[in-house]
Amino acid sequence: MSVKETLLKRRSVRHYDVNYKVSIETLSALIESAAKSPNGNNIQATRYLVIDDFDLRKQVLPVAFNQQQVTEASALVLILGDYQAFEKENIVLIHEQGYQAGYFTEQLRDQLVGAAINYYANKSLEELKLELVRDASLAAMSFILLANEVGLETITMSGYESDRLKKVLEIPDRFLDIMLIAVGKGIKSGHQTVRHEVNEIIYLNTIEYKLKAGEMSL
Ligand SMILES: Cc1cc2nc3c(=O)[nH]c(=O)nc-3n(C[C@H](O)[C@H](O)[C@H](O)COP(=O)(O)O)c2cc1C
Repeated sequence: MSVKETLLKRRSVRHYDVNYKVSIETLSALIESAAKSPNGNNIQATRYLVIDDFDLRKQVLPVAFNQQQVTEASALVLILGDYQAFEKENIVLIHEQGYQAGYFTEQLRDQLVGAAINYYANKSLEELKLELVRDASLAAMSFILLANEVGLETITMSGYESDRLKKVLEIPDRFLDIMLIAVGKGIKSGHQTVRHEVNEIIYLNTIEYKLKAGEMSL
């Protein structure tokens, strides 16, 4: 199935086969591919906490407003951003690995390291948070498409209490919780949803100029 077909078919699924198991091997293969998504300066700050333990998911359930997919799906993946990824040691290490692998020259390595360090140097916590969310969102969407490709369904969730979730899962402050994704075998397809007409969401060159319906087929 093409990416477009997968996107058109995808829905948020809220009812899952409770007896269906998705192995950690399958999940790690999906995550391995999702981690190929673009990310700022290749610092790779996105982390994935896979929660397949049923008792643990029962503890997450009330924290996520009793959304049934928390315990009915095969697993939850908590998408996290790791603030430690912004540290100089990580930036240097990842580019050194690229250099050692023969992917770029010593000169480009040093240039990339310098540019990345400068890029994050004076950013506020709010700005760093945005960096984490940008990168994690791209990886999360890749994960969703990859899961669909192997016949699994997902639902993304921000409907949970962040502080309580971090406490239940014992997540240190170094990590930003970004979203939960439930993954499993759907037993009831998600309801259909409408999207804005494309001409309602496209501007051309200036935010003052919205494309009109007739201008789409140029
Ligand atoms: C960041 C984010 C958080 C979401 N949180 C929830 C949630 O907590 N519970 C829920 O039922 N759906 C949640 N959704 C699913 C959206 O409601 C859903 O994507 C939207 O209605 C469009 O439907 P579709 O995904 O089936 O196309 C979330 C989606 C996103 C992207």
